[in-house]
Amino acid sequence: MSKRVILHDQNEGDFFYREAIKTLRANIRFSGRSRQVIMFTSVFSGEGKSDTVFHLAEEMAKLDKKVLLIDADIRNSVLVNRFGVEDAGTGLSEYLSGLEEDVDPLIHSTNYPGLYVLFAGAYAPNATEMLSDDHFRLLLETAPKVFDYVFVDTPPLGQVIDAAIIAQHCDGAVLVIESGAVSYRVAQRVKQQLETSGCHILGVVLNKVDRGGGSIYSSKYGKYGKYGKYGKYGKYGKYDKYDKYDGSREGDAREESARDSEA
Ligand SMILES: Nc1ncnc2c1ncn2[C@@H]1O[C@H](COP(=O)(O)OP(=O)(O)OP(=O)(O)O)[C@@H](O)[C@H]1O
Ligand SMILES: [Mg+2]
Repeated sequence: MSKRVILHDQNEGDFFYREAIKTLRANIRFSGRSRQVIMFTSVFSGEGKSDTVFHLAEEMAKLDKKVLLIDADIRNSVLVNRFGVEDAGTGLSEYLSGLEEDVDPLIHSTNYPGLYVLFAGAYAPNATEMLSDDHFRLLLETAPKVFDYVFVDTPPLGQVIDAAIIAQHCDGAVLVIESGAVSYRVAQRVKQQLETSGCHILGVVLNKVDRGGGSIYSSKYGKYGKYGKYGKYGKYGKYDKYDKYDGSREGDAREESARDSEA
């Protein structure tokens, strides 16, 4: 491993959010020893994968676990900018494209003890091809020998196929769903896509749930608006949670766009 990077978390979340992340952490721990490499995906962009996976990784590391967070969203990585990382250097895309020979020097320790990161690296338009490379499979096979958990942040599966490719090499997947944004049918389709990749779905995070409270942000978090929205989990492994959206959101623009991109 090469250097230590400092991550500045601006959106730590409120008490309820942190508790929800701890519940997710417990569910993942109880999902079994064989579930070490876990990917996080969603149907659409902006549903909260990157925030969820970072906070989960941080909480997991607090239990004296060694956690590697891999940012595999090579098309649209936010980690470096959102966390104000200086001098992130090269990352996954450079490794997969062969510009970097070894991956070890690209894995950085952080200011969160136990939490390590592999940044996405430079934007690459051929991300799908890169992630299909054997080096990526090898990385996900060898990392669990060194780390207790490997969490992989991915692009939304409803929009690009990358997550399905990543899923082939993971022990499990967590689907992050923004409350009210995704129809039952579309969520089912993504679930099936993941299952076709041979990846066990560990559960669903129902994110941005409006708990009806007012803003509980301090001014520091003002840009988030309602932090009351943060975190609450659908029952793990159950999709019938989304029944209520079926049909009723037929006109949902996001669903329309998913249909269009499928056509
Ligand atoms: N529970 C929440 N409540 C309020 N805001 C949230 C919540 N979860 C995430 N956000 C915010 O929503 C935006 C999108 O979140 P995030 O980047 O984690 O989504 P994503 O699924 O990773 O998106 P992408 O598909 O573009 O990678 C960010 O501004 C994030 O801080
Ligand atoms: Mg993201």
